[in-house]
Amino acid sequence: MHGGGLLACTPTTTSTPAVSAPRFAVDGAVPERTTLEQGWDDATRRAFWFAPQGSRIMPYVWFAWLEQPDSQALFRSTAYMSMLGYLPATEGLDNPAGLPIGFTTETDAKSGEAFLGLTCAACHTNQIDYRGTRYLIEGAPTLANFVLFYDRLTSALEQTSADDARFARFAERVAGASSGCEAAALRERLRGLTADAVARREANALPAHYPEDFTSYARLDAFGNIQNAASVFAINEPGNGHAPVAPVSYPFLWSTHQSDVVQWNASAPNTPVIGPLVRNMGEVVGVFGNLRIKPTPWWQRLWGHDLSYHSTINIPQLGRLEAWVSTLRSPEWPAEFPQPDPALVAEGEAHYERACAMCHEVIPRDRELAPYVSVKTLVAVVRTDPATAEAALKNIARTGLLEGHKSKVLAGEPFGPTARSIDIAVNGVAGVAVAHLREAARAGVEGERASGESLVQLAKRFEEDVAQAVTSRRFSTRPVR
Ligand code: HEC
Ligand code: HEC
Repeated sequence: MHGGGLLACTPTTTSTPAVSAPRFAVDGAVPERTTLEQGWDDATRRAFWFAPQGSRIMPYVWFAWLEQPDSQALFRSTAYMSMLGYLPATEGLDNPAGLPIGFTTETDAKSGEAFLGLTCAACHTNQIDYRGTRYLIEGAPTLANFVLFYDRLTSALEQTSADDARFARFAERVAGASSGCEAAALRERLRGLTADAVARREANALPAHYPEDFTSYARLDAFGNIQNAASVFAINEPGNGHAPVAPVSYPFLWSTHQSDVVQWNASAPNTPVIGPLVRNMGEVVGVFGNLRIKPTPWWQRLWGHDLSYHSTINIPQLGRLEAWVSTLRSPEWPAEFPQPDPALVAEGEAHYERACAMCHEVIPRDRELAPYVSVKTLVAVVRTDPATAEAALKNIARTGLLEGHKSKVLAGEPFGPTARSIDIAVNGVAGVAVAHLREAARAGVEGERASGESLVQLAKRFEEDVAQAVTSRRFSTRPVR
């Protein structure tokens, strides 16, 4: 892990010696919040906020001590993270550095090192303030600015590796020494991680003529990020990048598990057992899941096994996260909120019945956890911004080392020299799932949507569902609650 220049040194460790993350005091104030009845007890809420999913941004202690760009204040301070739109949370064993909801710690099984990652709750939790009371809404769309977060994080890393005084403070806190072998090894590793972050930021940068805040608070081109993670970084084809110019609003999560299909462009069938797991694995690919597809060593190629799929995706955890989502209920209007005028409610109901219900089905609260079929509307009919639907169809990438291999690893047509960027991500997810078939099958069943079919039948159905979903320019309409 340490390069030639350091060989004269024999540091006792080259990685940060944090076997499990040490505890730090939360840096700032965490507001008191009120929760609403949504089908989750307190333990489930907290588990959903901090259950890691195999996302690896950087060593956890690094983030704990990283300073904000152009300031000596800590990046993780509640004021700074709130400015970026994330919701401060109290520290605990599951949240040792007092990070916001959705910022996790996970110990790498191989190195024993604790890493910082993101989980679902960072992007799918929100808070409504009313007369001084803060209502936490589980599964609600975040208002956070992920792009700004990553941009600032990368600047902080750049400044810490380049500036001697800043690095000395960092090294003293992280490794207990600001000079000598430990510090030199730390700096080299920091430079490597910084270079990776810069490359990721560049690949996901907007074209120069776009306004700087095009992807800003409350919207993100999740698919664009996933496509680049797979088609640029996983297969090491730097020319494959497509600027993520199709930001969408973050959706709410209640009743997503029950829909036949999800994602704004109706591209992700919820085929039982397989659908949700594949979609969640795809999400981790975009959220620091470190997907890498590599040629295998020559002796493995002798028996026809010539690609290997690696990632840090935590498949069993994805099963649990999905199982929790499947029990999440929509929030009810709090009694403390102003009560709606009954005459207007009646008028609104009639209007909704006329103008909305044909697309946004009304589902009574007692049937909230039952499966339903979402209405799919052609983009041209709903006249929404078509960018996200178009990008999935039009972004093309070189397949590189995947050329000639089955597009879905065990199934599908072989890849030609180019393919849709999204199909490269799908290939990556399939490859990781096949490499961990037992774990994947178990995780899929954990987040189960009742079905009596065998895994083989389900896989076949999933393939048909996907083929149908991706080629149609539709938008999915979920019940609005
Ligand atoms: C970095 C932010 C981020 C994280 C982390 C994240 N999501 Fe999302 N999620 C999004 C965005 C943005 C979309 C909308 C994408 C689209 O449809 O184009 C989305 C879409 C979805 C949808 C589709 C909803 C619908 O209405 O069609 C589901 C379901 C979902 N996410 C579940 C999850 C789960 C479960 C996790 C964790 C395992 C997770 N997400 C993690 C940002 C995130
Ligand atoms: C022809 C079908 C159709 C009709 C009719 C329709 N919608 Fe929609 N609606 C959609 C689709 C598709 C989306 C998702 C794509 C988008 O954002 O444009 C959507 C999105 C929405 C959203 C955003 C949901 C979110 O989580 O961000 C709201 C709110 C909404 N509609 C409310 C309404 C209301 C209220 C009416 C009636 C006055 C209505 N819609 C009529 C198809 C329809």
